[in-house]
Amino acid sequence: MRLERNLGMDLVRCTEAAALRAARLMGRGDKHAADQAAVDAMRFALDAVPMDGVVVIGEGEKDEAPMLYIGEKVGSGEPPEVDVAVDPVEGTTLLAEGMPGAIAVVALAERGSLYHWTGIAYMDKLAVGPQARGAIDINAPVDENIRNVARALKKEVEDITVVVLDRPRHKELIRQIRETGARIKLILHGDVSAGIMTAIEDPPADMLMGIGGAPEAVITACAMKCVGGEIQCKLWPRNDDERALAAANGIDLERVYRTSDLVRGENVFFAATGITDGEFLRGVRYFSGGARTYSVVMRSISGTVRYIESRHDWTKLMRISGVDYVHAR
Ligand code: FBP
Repeated sequence: MRLERNLGMDLVRCTEAAALRAARLMGRGDKHAADQAAVDAMRFALDAVPMDGVVVIGEGEKDEAPMLYIGEKVGSGEPPEVDVAVDPVEGTTLLAEGMPGAIAVVALAERGSLYHWTGIAYMDKLAVGPQARGAIDINAPVDENIRNVARALKKEVEDITVVVLDRPRHKELIRQIRETGARIKLILHGDVSAGIMTAIEDPPADMLMGIGGAPEAVITACAMKCVGGEIQCKLWPRNDDERALAAANGIDLERVYRTSDLVRGENVFFAATGITDGEFLRGVRYFSGGARTYSVVMRSISGTVRYIESRHDWTKLMRISGVDYVHAR
């Protein structure tokens, strides 16, 4: 299946819509309301995208998620047939607490090409940018990976920055990284941005290591496919029930999922818009009568990465979209 049209430009309107709606709820302490606002706006915008999309990574199963549920059809219904991965707010707590780094994200690829087994919620991840691609092995010891990445980047180990989610489960990983002398950046949430940031120009970090959400791994892989970075992951069961589920489904927990296992298609689009200010993208900025958004759009076959600053006028937006961004709560 070929995707000739650059759907990235259509997708960015969806992440902009989600960010504009959700950003109004920044710092209000209600992550469900903020997520719902983003979901509503993104769902509405997705239907204008000329595609026959199926959500394979979304807000959950149909009975718990009224919109953008897994299996839901999105888009205008015309070809191409695509898998869609959405994360209307990546970093819901960050947004609810008014902290940096919340973004709205959408990715898509040819139908059937995105990994989406929901039996295990977490994956152990190792991600690097294009210059260190081929230098990592998730089965190798931590110090070996850091040394190999340092060599690939022609840096001292002490100049390598590793991003890790600040979680008790990472105590031993953090100890091992510290032992190498590498720098560590602990983040509260948002390992999609953290992974992608290793692959942008003048990266603020060199590696992402540790356990985070499995859907987030697939979304990160979509961006890595576009920019030439690399992510390797292994499923990370939390308990015996998840281990039994994996066994019952014939899932090998030792299997390493590489970028092209998480996203098998060659024609991949990724779009993200900043909701709160972050290192990866600036957040929504308000002015009288409107707001400005900051987004990135990527396309794998061309390798294009576009940073887009958009100016939105509330009155005009409402006229064309029917969405009241001013009073949306
Ligand atoms: P949400 O936006 O769904 O809250 O996810 C934020 C996040 O930090 C992800 O970036 C990360 O992959 C995952 O949660 C980590 O999960 P946990 O907070 O359970 O350790």
